Amino acid sequence: MRGARDKIAKQFCADATKQSRVPPRKDSGLLRCARNDGAEGLVQNEDAVEDGWTPQNGTTMPLLAIVYFSISGTTETLAHAVARGAAEMAEIALCRIVGDDIVAGRFRNARLVETIDRASAVAFGSPTYMGGPAAQFKAFADASSDRWSQQRWASKIAAGFTTGACAGGDQLHTLTYFSILAAQHGMLWCGLDIPGGEDPSGRNRLGSQLGLATHLVDGALPQSDLITAEYLGQRLANMVGRNDRVGAMRSTFSPSP
Ligand SMILES: Cc1cc2nc3c(=O)[nH]c(=O)nc-3n(C[C@H](O)[C@H](O)[C@H](O)COP(=O)(O)O)c2cc1C
Repeated sequence: MRGARDKIAKQFCADATKQSRVPPRKDSGLLRCARNDGAEGLVQNEDAVEDGWTPQNGTTMPLLAIVYFSISGTTETLAHAVARGAAEMAEIALCRIVGDDIVAGRFRNARLVETIDRASAVAFGSPTYMGGPAAQFKAFADASSDRWSQQRWASKIAAGFTTGACAGGDQLHTLTYFSILAAQHGMLWCGLDIPGGEDPSGRNRLGSQLGLATHLVDGALPQSDLITAEYLGQRLANMVGRNDRVGAMRSTFSPSP
């Protein structure tokens, strides 16, 4: 896993804004969080959002975009864990939505949306705020409507993760929203295949199979939530591999128009 962490750290860099700047955890392997528009002097690493990454074995890895909003860093910690889980099998674009992305109420970070255009899979993340995704995430979702009209994101794999202050803080509603957003785009939803209360290592602690629901215990995320997030990343990357293989077979066998 160390090599995978290094890979993410190398590939994804840019800074977050004053409004939501959160230093990455020292052990996360992520040096800085991604920002995609290069606005206001923030660093944009072009390599971070390329179509795929060619490892030494010559195969091209699919791109997983992790699109999330976080103020105090909990959702960001989950995003990094999802990235770690997927990093052996996918190129990762960490796309943090920040306050400056929203101008006069509208999400304006075109680079972030274009990163999703290039991705084979997307993980949506937001804290649960007042029983749903944060307004900043919703602004991003609303801005994706031009992609919706042409179903530009159809058949990409999608998953979601959220956190809250309470165990039963209506996180399900946030995940339900993510899955509906994915459905609007014609995306294929990837839930968790871990039955709550049945996993020997305690994954899926809150028993949420639509996506990853977590909450803070004594002010921190339990380790079981982090390993569930890593598992979700791994599962997403696996699904992408399958989806891409089916897509490749279809294009091989279907007659050209
Ligand atoms: C405006 C606001 C509304 C919130 N609403 C909920 C809620 O409905 N359910 C819940 O469990 N937690 C709620 N919380 C707590 C946050 O979800 C929690 O602090 C979360 O860890 C913040 O994520 P972040 O660290 O990624 O910013 C709310 C917090 C704020 C600031």
